[in-house]
Amino acid sequence: MRPYVFINSAMSADGKISTVAREQVRISGKEDLQRVDELKADADAIMVGVGTVLADDPKLTVKSAALKRNRVAQGRSEDPLRIVVDSKARTPVTAAILGRNALVAVAQQAPCDRVEALSKKVEVLVVGKSKVDLAKLLANLKDRGVNSVLVEGGATLNFALLELGLVDEVYTYVGDIIIGGSAAPTLVDGAGLTSHFINLKLQDASQLGKGVLIRWAVLGRPL
Ligand SMILES: NC(=O)c1ccc[n+]([C@@H]2O[C@H](COP(=O)([O-])OP(=O)(O)OC[C@H]3O[C@@H](n4cnc5c(N)ncnc54)[C@H](OP(=O)(O)O)[C@@H]3O)[C@@H](O)[C@H]2O)c1
Repeated sequence: MRPYVFINSAMSADGKISTVAREQVRISGKEDLQRVDELKADADAIMVGVGTVLADDPKLTVKSAALKRNRVAQGRSEDPLRIVVDSKARTPVTAAILGRNALVAVAQQAPCDRVEALSKKVEVLVVGKSKVDLAKLLANLKDRGVNSVLVEGGATLNFALLELGLVDEVYTYVGDIIIGGSAAPTLVDGAGLTSHFINLKLQDASQLGKGVLIRWAVLGRPL
């Protein structure tokens, strides 16, 4: 058993989610930022890869005070559980995401001193030998009562989850810029597939601000 998992990402018209410098780029406008805040407020947990933490240092909290209040009125925490997938415990102890209601998932190979330092700031969960075992992590989350996980990137984590068949839906906001650069991260990177591609079913596509919001259901890989 695992929670419902959905990826949300903003990408340029040429499919890039960042630049060759891997710096955060404003791809969408205020309408999309508001939509993402609502997605966050609905989710039980938000997950990112350590690459995103190192590049962007996101907080991943809900921005709107009204949405936070709604969550509390529903008996939930102000913000969803925030999770970093980080096999080697590379998350800096000063990372904005750390604190209450956060979790860093590491693998057994993570250096003890790093795990110890992080444990003083945040819950650290060891799950997997050399890499974080994503299926086990999701099963652990489900056991804690987490029923929905919003994955906010980046490109490597997106691929790993999709390849393992652990994603139910993908939301992509396609913004009105071209970034280019063969080394710039795209929506899904990782090792890639050469056959048996992951099939999607279009759920919805609509203009939002100056770009397009596309919602795909993930059907999975053909045998
Ligand atoms: N436009 C957007 O919406 C958006 C959103 C998010 C991020 N971004 C951009 O995306 C870029 C970061 O993406 P990224 O691909 O470099 O990093 P990432 O996907 O955020 O993190 C990847 C890292 O996660 C760790 N990991 C742990 N267990 C894993 C597993 N089982 N499978 C795969 N990875 C695992 C790996 O590091 P270890 O081996 O050390 O564990 C891996 O290198 C940044 O440039 C950021 O700005 C854009």
